[in-house]
Amino acid sequence: MRVLVAGKGGVGKTTISALLCFILSEKGYNVLALDTDSVPNLAQSLGVPYEEALEIVPLSRNEELAEKRTGAKPGKGWGVLFSLTPKVDDLAERYGIRIRDNLRLVVVGSIEQSKEGCLCPSIALARAFLLHTMISRKEIVVVDCEAGAEVFGRGLAEKFEIMLCVTEPTFKSLMIARKLIDMSKQLDIPNVILAINKVKDSMRASVMYKKVFSGSIQYNIIRLDENITLLDNEGLGLNKIPKTSPVYRDVENLSKKLISIKKRSK
Ligand SMILES: Nc1ncnc2c1ncn2[C@@H]1O[C@H](COP(=O)(O)OP(=O)(O)O)[C@@H](O)[C@H]1O
Ligand SMILES: [Mg+2]
Repeated sequence: MRVLVAGKGGVGKTTISALLCFILSEKGYNVLALDTDSVPNLAQSLGVPYEEALEIVPLSRNEELAEKRTGAKPGKGWGVLFSLTPKVDDLAERYGIRIRDNLRLVVVGSIEQSKEGCLCPSIALARAFLLHTMISRKEIVVVDCEAGAEVFGRGLAEKFEIMLCVTEPTFKSLMIARKLIDMSKQLDIPNVILAINKVKDSMRASVMYKKVFSGSIQYNIIRLDENITLLDNEGLGLNKIPKTSPVYRDVENLSKKLISIKKRSK
């Protein structure tokens, strides 16, 4: 099952992605977490110590590895001559970070091509890795993405089975979520779940939801939770969140919905 976690900046995508990865791995699923943010920070939320996380070179920026795998020589006219089908099937194991036995993280970084349209070897490598992962991995793949599915483009975007669109319970944020959901439908992603995060008052959140959506999109409420701020301030990952905390319970409910979609689509 491949889940894209989308939404505008600051709404809680990384927080929810990390928590979802922990909960699914606790339920026994093998989980691969991918961070495709241009400023990746999923590692910290998964409990990788801050200093260590800063050292990670995203796949899409790893020119050295790209050179090895694609045969490209940076700066030597590689624009024409490099392999677009590099070896990538070992990258999750070799390049990924083991968070738990059944949870790995690969920091992919942004895969958006430069405005000049040039395809750098490292971005080509990251894209080849993503495509391979989406086609062949049997486990649950959770992708923390900084925008919506359109970033992935045709060929990759429609390989997601679920888009989890995260929003805050405000009119503006919900309107952006609606736009991202409309775009994901054009890209043929079959399942969409809306996660309304940082909710203080669920009645009010549901009124806001009804103002923007006609009721056709399933939504889950995720409460605003002081425990997250406490962990954040201590530099701790979401593995340390108490299981009795509101956000844990809410994301656990969300995970059940994802699992039921996974079972249905088999
Ligand atoms: N349910 C929540 N309760 C309290 N704070 C939250 C919650 N979800 C996210 N946050 C906080 O909001 C901020 C942005 O979250 P983050 O997951 O980094 O967003 P994004 O990845 O969408 O940019 C972080 O400081 C995070 O700790
Ligand atoms: Mg983020």
